[in-house]
Amino acid sequence: MKAHIDQLFEKSDLSDKALLALLDGMSDDDVHYLFESARRKKQLHYGDSVYMRGLIEFTNYCKQRCAYCGIRADNGQVERYRLNKAQILQCCEEGHALGYRTFVLQGGEDPFYTDDRLVDIIRSIKSSFSDCAVTLSVGERSRESYMRLKEAGANRYLLRHETASPSLYASLHPGMSQENRIQCLYTLKSLGYQVGAGFMVGLPNQTHADLVADLRFLKQLSPEMVGIGPFIPQKDTPLGQVPHGSVRMTLIMVALTRLLLPQVLLPSTTALGTLDSKGREKALRAGANVVMPNLSPTDVREQYALYDNKICTGDEAAHCRQCIERRIVSAGFRVDMGRGDHPDYQTSS
Ligand code: 5AD
Ligand code: FES
Repeated sequence: MKAHIDQLFEKSDLSDKALLALLDGMSDDDVHYLFESARRKKQLHYGDSVYMRGLIEFTNYCKQRCAYCGIRADNGQVERYRLNKAQILQCCEEGHALGYRTFVLQGGEDPFYTDDRLVDIIRSIKSSFSDCAVTLSVGERSRESYMRLKEAGANRYLLRHETASPSLYASLHPGMSQENRIQCLYTLKSLGYQVGAGFMVGLPNQTHADLVADLRFLKQLSPEMVGIGPFIPQKDTPLGQVPHGSVRMTLIMVALTRLLLPQVLLPSTTALGTLDSKGREKALRAGANVVMPNLSPTDVREQYALYDNKICTGDEAAHCRQCIERRIVSAGFRVDMGRGDHPDYQTSS
């Protein structure tokens, strides 16, 4: 197994067969070696820096019905909310004072936020905080829409592919098309966004071969960012009784992604921190180099429950900022409050 890991380190690629062998057969010692290799690779490109992103969950309305997601349209148990422009700017204000230079606007697929409304919000953020990057995470939209949002000043876009397996994708996403989602990712790239893809680990019936397909998809797309988290059940969804994904396998996927895409911006996700109190530190030590603490107003935090027992729902932005810094330092790294653009996009405004 170590020979496969060395080859991956040197070539930034490995055959599907060898990747599958790694997923099927690593000892604890091999896994340790994998994490160390991923950490060294991150160090080569980013040193000790860990980038901070301020996450603003601005709407939990969603028209989609993803089987795993707590804010799916037909979950009648969630209290829905939307933040208006003034509330969003207030979150940015607070975040900016804490040092954040990237704001991630995330929400469900909420038709209330037309292009006109989003353009207005993005323009306001960019004119008030001209030294900041704006990342959007609002799902599948048309090419024209993505174009208008880019022109308004959005720099980056997160749209996880969720799973590269066609059958698994279809079983989890009623009424959606995997082909369209993948097309959206390529469209975003062609428009000049820094693009984030990503997937969940431990979905029901997901095999190691499916996870290899996720890695192969990432290698082909070559996104600037990749979000990887364990599946965690949310009690009011169709998958509410399914066991959560494994922290170990999630960390392995983080490390393999670092080795396949050496320069990728790779968050240590909240879902990992939810399953394991040291999960985020472990991800940083397995090749992750980004954290995304929450800037949403505390009175709406609990309503953005994609899965059960989500951490930080009661914590003020300033508290999370400090908490996460302690964690980063304890893992052996340092906070970098810069915009943290991908190395290929250093001049983006
Ligand atoms: N468990 C883990 N991750 C989830 N997401 C949505 N629901 C869950 C869940 N139950 C992830 C999806 C989505 C991202 C914002 O959160 O991958 O793209
Ligand atoms: Fe929010 Fe630790 S990051 S409390």
